[in-house]
Amino acid sequence: MEDRAYADAYRASIDDPESFWHRAAEQIDWFEFPTSILDTDANGTPRWFRGGKLNTAWLALDRHVAAGRGDDVALIYDSPVTGHIDRYTYTELTERVSRVAGGLAALGVARGDRVIVYMPMIPEAVIAMLACARLGAVHSVVFGGFAAPELAVRIDDAKPKVVLSASCGIEFQTVIPYKPLLDEAIELAEAKPTRTVIVQRPQCKAALIEDRDLDWASWEAESDTVGWVEVDAWDPLYILYTSGTTGRPKGVVRDNGGHAVALNYSMGAIYGCDAGDVYWAASDVGWVVGHSYIVYGPLIKGCATVLYEGKPVRTPDAGAIWRVIAEHGVKTFFVAPTAFRAVKKEDPNAELKDRYDISCLRYLFVAGERLDPPTYEWLKSTVHTPVIDHWWQTETGWSICANMMGVADAPSAPTRPGSPSFPVPGYDLKVFDEDGKELGPDGEGNVVIKAPLPPGTLPTIWGDHARFHEAYWSRYPGFYLTGDGGYRDADGYVYIMGRVDDVMNVAGHRLSTGELEEVVAAHPAVAECAVVGIADEDKGQVPLGLVVLKDGVNTEGAALEAELVQMVRRQLGAFANFKQALVVPRLPKTRSGKILRQVIRKMADGDAFETPSTIDDPAILEEIEAAFDERRVGVGRAG
Ligand code: COA
Ligand code: AMP
Repeated sequence: MEDRAYADAYRASIDDPESFWHRAAEQIDWFEFPTSILDTDANGTPRWFRGGKLNTAWLALDRHVAAGRGDDVALIYDSPVTGHIDRYTYTELTERVSRVAGGLAALGVARGDRVIVYMPMIPEAVIAMLACARLGAVHSVVFGGFAAPELAVRIDDAKPKVVLSASCGIEFQTVIPYKPLLDEAIELAEAKPTRTVIVQRPQCKAALIEDRDLDWASWEAESDTVGWVEVDAWDPLYILYTSGTTGRPKGVVRDNGGHAVALNYSMGAIYGCDAGDVYWAASDVGWVVGHSYIVYGPLIKGCATVLYEGKPVRTPDAGAIWRVIAEHGVKTFFVAPTAFRAVKKEDPNAELKDRYDISCLRYLFVAGERLDPPTYEWLKSTVHTPVIDHWWQTETGWSICANMMGVADAPSAPTRPGSPSFPVPGYDLKVFDEDGKELGPDGEGNVVIKAPLPPGTLPTIWGDHARFHEAYWSRYPGFYLTGDGGYRDADGYVYIMGRVDDVMNVAGHRLSTGELEEVVAAHPAVAECAVVGIADEDKGQVPLGLVVLKDGVNTEGAALEAELVQMVRRQLGAFANFKQALVVPRLPKTRSGKILRQVIRKMADGDAFETPSTIDDPAILEEIEAAFDERRVGVGRAG
């Protein structure tokens, strides 16, 4: 079934990882080549490329200019919400990045210092990230959809010297002022940054606080350009916060060396791209997809990358994706399935596609959530290219399973609905049962990866190595716990069926039950609550809250629900899509008091489940079922 070239590459990476990644490391330019390929750090974590010296921004920019490619397009900013299409060559982008790096250096930012980037999808977001990388500073991009308290939590964890932000984002036609959110977050945070720099957008002028806030345009114009700082392969490039199983986000750390090697490898081997190709990842710089494949991967490879400030629909219509592909000559396109579900809803027969010539498109990749078979079939019949589901996580930074387009210049095997195909070289994937016994074909269990994880994957959690160990390595020692459940079929195709922990995936956005429950539980009428992610035709999953009222509280369910919805929007962000909260008499729990969230989720989804033998009182399930029927909760009951 598997293509021979893929099978050979995979085997080589597992049998002799050091030789495999040595060869991949030779494909990027180092100031000093690593002294060892695979080593162990002081925490006992396997690490790649000890002793290597490099600079990731130099790799992504200056190097291409030096190689005579300065006039090639590096960044295409396509913003239907503002009517802009701007192109930056490698020379132009390098110049702006080195000037912004100079501005940051003048504010006291040096190697190892943290900088938070809280920005919409504008070129300055990309420039900010690369400017940090140029200085060896550590950026932490916070998705613009996060509300102030979530930004504050990240500020307190990363302790940035400077925050880079903008006056507003634009969602469809709505201008969303960022500055009040930033001001509130800094007010809430203890680790207050000394400076903020604000891009003043014409759609909204932010009031600047004297002695703290700087206007980006004049700050950049008055700054000197600076050179790059040589960093160690193990130095952190960035921290990206992601939802864990508790309310506190985890700061996933990415190092410079492994990241550069892995992304460079992936651009060719997985995405079939080379220098000069146009690559478009329709995500957001606030997510890992944005880090790896809007910014670093395409630029390290010398591609032109598309930064799209718009939506798949209503900016202005469901033909937006096809328009961008055609207009910029996109070769490889990467998006979350939810985007195509939105397109399919508005343009079921993809008639708007016929307005555009998308013959430039070679590969269509999707990730971020499971590619449901109906969307897969719709895409297969809509585009002329392979439709490739690939699976990965913030923690890994690049894909664990994919159908590789560059290994044999063809799909490594026919794709199958519902499957991201095979493990990528470097990932020794296994499926374990609860006791750690490896399952054979079709046996569904916990998907794990045998150590060492390949280059580019997380070496630790920022400031909390114990959590890194506890979250990923304690369940099955020697194996990384992905948190996803799944199986392999008899031909080796992997199927990822969803999270087996308390993480949910809403429109490709990762959320934890814990962070939502913290908000809901703070309502004065709520005694206790559970939030689970239930199936949704558009968003993949949406959160559903079950709340138990405090004794003596007499509140109307609808009013309470409306208040909780507002609280989640204000505390966490609208993108959480928290819209349903049901009052129930009790929550199903085990005798030791653990809430049975998986059971609630399965009941809402209409999936079969076994009543756990440890359940405190099985009668509760009937009450919940009745509440679900009454409110028509879940896709099945919605009618
Ligand atoms: N800033 C402020 N608000 C935001 C926001 C942002 N960056 N992103 C989303 N929101 C708001 C939306 O405006 C909407 O608000 P509303 O309830 O007032 O209407 C709400 O959050 C829900 O957003 P979402 O579910 O994302 O729907 P959408 O219609 O805005 O966008 C998609 C639909 C498909 C474009 C979007 O969900 C998406 O791009 N998902 C993929 C995410 C991704 O790339 N993940 C990485 C893996 S590939
Ligand atoms: P994030 O860290 O935000 O990228 O989310 C990672 C999670 O999204 C994974 O653990 C999966 O649960 C889910 N996910 C991402 N890509 C896929 C995919 N192709 N198929 C199934 N689930 C996916």
